[in-house]
Amino acid sequence: MWTFLKIIRLNRATVRSLNPLPRGWTVVLRRSCSSASSESRVTNPSILRHLTSKITATGAITVAEYMREVLTNPVSGYYVKNDMLGADGDFITSPEISQIFGELVGIWCVSEWVASGKPKVLQLVELGPGRGSLIGDILRVFHQLQSVLHGAEVSVHLVEVSPKLSQLQAQCLAGEYTCGGEDELVYRTGTTHTGLPIYWYRSVKDVPRGFSIFLAHEFFDALPIHKFQRTEKGWREVMVDIHPEEPDKLRFVLFPTPTLASTTLIHEDEKRQHLEISPEGGVIVQKLASQIAEDGGAALIADYGHDGTKMDTFRGFRGHKLHDVLEAPGTADLTADVDFSYLRRMAGDAVVCMGPITQRAFLKNMGIDARLQVLLRSCHDATTRAQLIHGCDMLTSPEKMGSRFQFFSLLAPSRLTQPWEEGEGLGRRRRGPAPLPVAGFSELEVE
Ligand SMILES: C[S@@+](CC[C@H](N)C(=O)[O-])C[C@H]1O[C@@H](n2cnc3c(N)ncnc32)[C@H](O)[C@@H]1O
Repeated sequence: MWTFLKIIRLNRATVRSLNPLPRGWTVVLRRSCSSASSESRVTNPSILRHLTSKITATGAITVAEYMREVLTNPVSGYYVKNDMLGADGDFITSPEISQIFGELVGIWCVSEWVASGKPKVLQLVELGPGRGSLIGDILRVFHQLQSVLHGAEVSVHLVEVSPKLSQLQAQCLAGEYTCGGEDELVYRTGTTHTGLPIYWYRSVKDVPRGFSIFLAHEFFDALPIHKFQRTEKGWREVMVDIHPEEPDKLRFVLFPTPTLASTTLIHEDEKRQHLEISPEGGVIVQKLASQIAEDGGAALIADYGHDGTKMDTFRGFRGHKLHDVLEAPGTADLTADVDFSYLRRMAGDAVVCMGPITQRAFLKNMGIDARLQVLLRSCHDATTRAQLIHGCDMLTSPEKMGSRFQFFSLLAPSRLTQPWEEGEGLGRRRRGPAPLPVAGFSELEVE
């Protein structure tokens, strides 16, 4: 992996010009702020009307249904209509903060491909690519590591529910592209600026089989969650209902009897008092795990999260400030910390899970300090240098994104087992070469 770091440092054109942050503007990370915005709210009346008519017709809805409607309703969902990322949006993410993040993830992908025996076909799959910044930085690394990837048939597969964001991704990543029909599984295809085939899907289940490296950055935290509260009568599900005194307001209520979700989703050993579970996240992880187990590959999942310790993390973000999740639905991002212990359980035994480890540990293990020094050496503009240093600090400082973000990986078991070969002697077996350590999850060995 150290070799890859050395190769990409040779290219001086790698300093992507960063959008300067407005003067005095402080980056407020999702879930890192402590007070709600007092600015006047613009509402999205169509979503609120849609939700209140639904609740009037069928009764209180689950938090998962509420989140799904608010975020991904095909007509007016938050993700469907908005570009919410960046300084002018509602929140900012690591790949948007610094190119180094994507470059190191790109090296991780190449490193896993090499450690898996350099299979001929390599599918790079990203779930929820946002503006396409992460995959853009990875593709630049792939281009620079052509000598390493030589002979591999690389293709790019993006799973994106938002027409608005997929349009931005196409403009950013593809030299040319064509759009498919509304009901086609592949709704856009094209060729990247570096000449690789690129495809867009609405669901990960539509991505073709084959050796794949799956990436999900701030994707799982956007998936709908069910919320449960432990009561004297057992687990009860939290629902969203119309406020009895204010018909255009919503409120949380506890369903009086067990629901299908409360009886099927909660593990019998659960000790917490309050729970958030995303069955949609569980199904996606199961799909990744089964594909990795059968076809080889790996998944790298990075998100705000915990290992089965946190309880009530459901939050809204608008204009870089905390926002009441039930207020003006459709105008703010909704998110909940990822429970990696649940993802591990859903992944099952067919794959090996690594982590979660902190973003700081992962990026340090990937050589972020060395990469920063390389970029600084080839950059003489004082503003860009300051941005690079500030970006790395944002990503790794424990008070900023360094400890809130966690990295988690799924790997094929064969990737970590030391192969045994038939020896010459009678029935004797001989060990093959030891497997390469998994980059990012073990300390970088500097040659
Ligand atoms: C919080 S943004 C993160 C964007 C990007 N990964 C980043 O870190 O900058 C979530 C992304 O997931 C997409 N998304 C949300 N729910 C989705 C779903 N159910 N299926 C596919 N994409 C989804 C959003 O449109 C958006 O691109």
